[in-house]
Amino acid sequence: MPNDDDAAYPTDRRAFLESVGLSAGVAALASTALPTAGADETDANDDPLPMSYDLPDLPYEYDALEPHIDREIMELHHSGHHQAYVDGANDALEELEEMRDADDFEGIKAVKRDLAFNLSGHVNHAIFWENMAPDGGGEPTGTLAEAIERSFGSFEAFRAEFTQTAADVESVGWAMLFYEPLADELIIGQLESQHLLAHQDSTPLLTLDVWEHAYYLQYQNERDTYIDEWWNVVDWDDVAERYEAACAQRGPSDEDDRGQQAEQSPYSSLPNSV
Ligand SMILES: [Fe+2]
Repeated sequence: MPNDDDAAYPTDRRAFLESVGLSAGVAALASTALPTAGADETDANDDPLPMSYDLPDLPYEYDALEPHIDREIMELHHSGHHQAYVDGANDALEELEEMRDADDFEGIKAVKRDLAFNLSGHVNHAIFWENMAPDGGGEPTGTLAEAIERSFGSFEAFRAEFTQTAADVESVGWAMLFYEPLADELIIGQLESQHLLAHQDSTPLLTLDVWEHAYYLQYQNERDTYIDEWWNVVDWDDVAERYEAACAQRGPSDEDDRGQQAEQSPYSSLPNSV
């Protein structure tokens, strides 16, 4: 992992690392509020762990999303459930370090599974909090609105597909709007648990948690009502920023002049369709 190469870490990558509180090996990027770079995370031998994660603060108060999502849910969800994913990811990293030190990787399958589940849970929730705002709701504008119309036909069609995707999650999981860079399109995914059915290399723009811990205290088993209320707190400005950052990282779109910009795109040598 590079540590001080700004060219290798475009702004959106830096912002993402900050949003998930990744403190591993990125101290040199810490122009703002990155946590201390793992220096205070020590193993039994007082050697610093190469990487660790921290729970990010919410960008608003616990009661800020009421009446749509009440304070009790937000506090328990953030300080309890999200913290548990952070702790689980760090525990898995520590176990991996111990395996490496011992040069003994027996049982690594379970550790890798724990890391995938908990790190995905951490990232999903970090985006989920920022996708919401007290003055949210309504519809997107600008380039995001155009992209939604291009990919789904209309905002209403997008919202209907996203809502049904969330409602139909089996047991626990997420609905997510992704930017898919190969096709340069938006797609809606349905994740089971925190990490199953993930879309490789696609960038999550909008995430909706439909684990029962996200709504049961307020809505009991009425998941559909929770989803309807959640649309009132969607922060479309945040979603638009994520979309624009993902597009910038991809490089030129179909409409752009590839001859002039092809070298900037990591996808320039790949087929532009799936
Ligand atoms: Fe959750």
